[in-house]
Amino acid sequence: MKKYLKGILATTMVLSMTAALAGCGGSGETATTDDTAAEGGEAKETLVLATSADFPPYEYYEGQEIVGIDAEIAKALGEKLGYDVQIEDMNFDSIIPSIVSGKADIAMAGLTVTPERQESVDFTDSYATGVQVVIVNADSDITSVDDLFAEGANHTIGVQTATTGDLYTTGDIEEAGLGTVERYTKGTDAVAALTSGKIDCVVIDNEPAKAFVEANEGLKILDTEYITEDYAIALAKDSELTESINTALQELKDDGTVQSIIDKYITAE
Ligand code: ARG
Repeated sequence: MKKYLKGILATTMVLSMTAALAGCGGSGETATTDDTAAEGGEAKETLVLATSADFPPYEYYEGQEIVGIDAEIAKALGEKLGYDVQIEDMNFDSIIPSIVSGKADIAMAGLTVTPERQESVDFTDSYATGVQVVIVNADSDITSVDDLFAEGANHTIGVQTATTGDLYTTGDIEEAGLGTVERYTKGTDAVAALTSGKIDCVVIDNEPAKAFVEANEGLKILDTEYITEDYAIALAKDSELTESINTALQELKDDGTVQSIIDKYITAE
């Protein structure tokens, strides 16, 4: 656990320092617009947003529509910058590849800033905080996060494939010989495996954890937390959009839009 914890904290610090130091850089130009297409000033450029709409309250389906904190912040950013935002729903493990390949322009998916991901994509400033927590069956003998790292531990841990929950538990537990990690396409699949007794716990972000526990009888979230992380928007390396999105994001934070979107979906305890 400690290994990854340190890495994350170090990156977070570097990020905030970079943010503080970087008033410079970037040409200030946004992606090229085909002016001839803008007849009547109606045509807007489309920003393709990659997400995995299985993660309430950040992104999930309400009927046919993808709603949630990320969807609304994306929409507000699009309005500010003059883009139509087109949401592309995909499996979580396709999100970073879709940015790298240029299939999508930005990714918002309760996406944690990590050193590994920073090798292939850039991140904006953070707009929210997440906490990795552990969901167990109410009568579980796992009572604290430390039980997962205890000498001789041998639990089966469910995660969503390619999430930080997967990354941390693979490194801290599976590779340390302290248990097995079962990877599921969706968090809800992991939760279903837990309910049916196939696995011992699920490591996942706190807000979806709350939603999943509410939707299923007999589950609880351990009081102890695994790790705290920063959510940010991912873009292609050296994307011309990063600077303008950071500026717009800051304006939406300053005028209270981001907080009011978060408050709409997350009620403070
Ligand atoms: N914060 C975690 C990560 O970045 C989990 C995100 C999962 N997001 C989702 N939309 N399913 O790895």
